[in-house]
Amino acid sequence: MNKRPLVIAIDGPSGAGKGTVARNLASRLNYRHVDTGAMYRAVAWKALQEGLDLEDEEAVSRLARGITLDAQGGAVAVDGIDISREIRTPAIDAAAARVARQPKVRAVLIEQQRKLGAGGGVVMEGRDIGTVVFPNADVKLYLDASPEERARRRAHDPSHTAGRGAAAVTDIANALEARDRLDRTRTASPLAVAPDAIKMDTTQMSVDEVVERVLRMIEANHSRSL
Ligand code: DC
Repeated sequence: MNKRPLVIAIDGPSGAGKGTVARNLASRLNYRHVDTGAMYRAVAWKALQEGLDLEDEEAVSRLARGITLDAQGGAVAVDGIDISREIRTPAIDAAAARVARQPKVRAVLIEQQRKLGAGGGVVMEGRDIGTVVFPNADVKLYLDASPEERARRRAHDPSHTAGRGAAAVTDIANALEARDRLDRTRTASPLAVAPDAIKMDTTQMSVDEVVERVLRMIEANHSRSL
């Protein structure tokens, strides 16, 4: 039996631990890590740079199709320019949620995500990876945590607090809740749990505990692929 590298899909709301868990898992398995949220953020950033109306779905999707995005390995670049820091601001939080609602923009990015994961050997994180992008993913995880814990994590994550000063946890909690509501209630690929996803509540768990549990699960079910 040939070794076939896996597609591992990780979905869940903001602050549930997807990013850190995905990065750690990818490094332990020697897989690529693709942050699809960063792709929506990068499109939003570029659209604002170009002065586009974010509600102009035709223009934003044309822009998304015309740029070269790289959101692998923790850094994010548009047309070769690193914008990893620029896309983690409150303005881009809001702008990314707006462009992510648009089916034409999603179609462009979903196509790129499928290409990135086609050969397997990838840990891809987002909101719709196990439901829409890779409904046949080998492993599907849905990470969640209590709203308080998610807000606390965001408030202490330097990559999400750049330019935000010491934002109060309650402000962050309110913004997270508003964004999650947008992500869950939009018609195009809303945040949802795939029926065959393994749901984990990470409120009381460390990153290492989550990663170890997932690795044990993968070893038990997919040992031939490792
Ligand atoms: O994970 P994040 O906060 O960086 O995601 C940015 C925005 O993009 C957020 O509003 C959710 C949205 N998103 C999405 O709709 N689908 C994905 N696969 C990933 C992110």
